[in-house]
Amino acid sequence: MANYIKQILILFITTFILILIFIVSSPRTDRSIPTPRGPPPVCPSTISDQAITPLKNTKHFLVSAFMDQRWNGFDIRIIGMFRRDSIQPLHCLFCCAGRLGETTPATVLVHSDHFGFPFAATDVMCRIPQDCDPTHVTLLTQPNESNSTWLPIRNKKTSGIKEKRVNFTVCISNLFGDYNNVLQYTQALEMYRLLGVNRVVIYNTSCGPDLDRLLQSYIQEGFVEIVPWPIHKHMNPSSGWLFSKYGGDIHYFGQLTTLNECIYRSMERSRYVLLNDIDEIIMPYQHSNLMSLMDTLQQQHPKVGIFLIENHSFPRMHFEPSGRFKLPQWSGVPGVNILEHIYREDPDRTIYHPHKMIVQPRMVEQTSVHEVLKSFGQHYKVPLDVCRIIHIGVGGSPKLELLHEDKRLWDFHEKLIPNVDKALKKVGLLTGN
Ligand SMILES: *[C@@H]1O[C@H](CO)[C@@H](O)[C@H](O)[C@H]1NC(C)=O
Ligand SMILES: *[C@@H]1O[C@H](CO)[C@@H](O)[C@H](O)[C@H]1NC(C)=O
Ligand SMILES: *[C@@H]1O[C@H](CO)[C@@H](O)[C@H](O)[C@H]1NC(C)=O
Ligand SMILES: *[C@@H]1O[C@H](CO)[C@@H](O)[C@H](O)[C@H]1NC(C)=O
Ligand SMILES: *[C@@H]1O[C@H](CO)[C@@H](O)[C@H](O)[C@H]1NC(C)=O
Repeated sequence: MANYIKQILILFITTFILILIFIVSSPRTDRSIPTPRGPPPVCPSTISDQAITPLKNTKHFLVSAFMDQRWNGFDIRIIGMFRRDSIQPLHCLFCCAGRLGETTPATVLVHSDHFGFPFAATDVMCRIPQDCDPTHVTLLTQPNESNSTWLPIRNKKTSGIKEKRVNFTVCISNLFGDYNNVLQYTQALEMYRLLGVNRVVIYNTSCGPDLDRLLQSYIQEGFVEIVPWPIHKHMNPSSGWLFSKYGGDIHYFGQLTTLNECIYRSMERSRYVLLNDIDEIIMPYQHSNLMSLMDTLQQQHPKVGIFLIENHSFPRMHFEPSGRFKLPQWSGVPGVNILEHIYREDPDRTIYHPHKMIVQPRMVEQTSVHEVLKSFGQHYKVPLDVCRIIHIGVGGSPKLELLHEDKRLWDFHEKLIPNVDKALKKVGLLTGN
């Protein structure tokens, strides 16, 4: 009899433990039994699903919030676009695992580069209140304000699935208008890939129909990441870089904000970030790819986090005469064929001459287009014979005798051409297919 009771007891306890294990281990989303008691979570109520979020009761816009504890006393950096003439005191409000945290004062840092425009790239720094494991953050004009839109906090080191770290990310700040330069875009993307780039982030306001199709295909494959950037719905963005000359609300479609956002977006997932435009290729001249270039440079300059690469223009008005790479299958593809432009202009170093950058994102605090505004590492100007930018664009000298022949791009033709063909064929843009 005692044995019988013992067996039943053991059976009972085992079943109980099994059920307990099942409940504890089954993922939250799969649990069909609703949580029995307790009020519904008070936060986050409205989470922003937009790249640009208007900040309630202000003229400002928020873009993204990132964990950033590189400065003592601050934990969170919110990147936004603030109207410089309307900066007011703000409060950071946190959502701490489903409950509201206390507010903490916000520190507003307007970037020094704004080129005179009313709106500027802006960082808002926040401290996390005590006993708070924050998932979302928002800003308030009054500590007692309610119903604001929450931003998820990114780059949290503890947050679940860790993305694999890649070597190189290219940030293409802005795509706008009906830009449909498909051939140059494909060639540039495939050239980046041959050089060792793992991901290209593009901020998209609008683009032409063929380029849209091409990019959709690259998104699907995972090489391109598009951030929708509908800035024209919130303000009147300038397509120029200087307010006094071009007018508008913000410099070049918000380029300064998108470049900063891209650096923080890449901080935990990419060793290096390249800040250049799609008509530019950061080209190693002594190494076959960017990794061997950076291995060499970093060994020589271990404390450097910002590598400046000089811009060199290859004017589009001059064509290579033999037509060797004027390929028939590309004749119906809209856009520029970069392999046809081999004449490089010497920059005029008596005037300001811009660079583009390869950076270690963790060493950057604030960036502009041609230089980093605030950083934790040293800068280094990479010598011309080691690396330069091949910039195939409009403008440049009409005098061919002043230009130098430079066929560095041709060194890659054996792989570049079939890869470009494959990408174009995939989206039905290759002529004769
Ligand atoms: C919030 O606080 C301000 C000033 O402290 C006060 O004027 C306002 O009425 C308060 N609003 C609410 C909704 O409590
Ligand atoms: C909160 O704000 C959202 C959008 O800003 C609005 O649609 C909603 O009605 C507001 N809710 C309350 C309770 O004010
Ligand atoms: C990053 O570079 C290293 C060293 O060259 C290489 O072994 C690795 O495969 C690269 N990773 C990716 C994701 O390309
Ligand atoms: C870019 O944005 C425009 C406008 O929203 C959209 O129509 C287009 O599909 C987008 N393209 C990509 C590749 O995201
Ligand atoms: C790049 O340099 C060339 C001279 O080589 C110059 O004509 C051009 O304006 C520069 N481009 C940019 C975007 O700075």
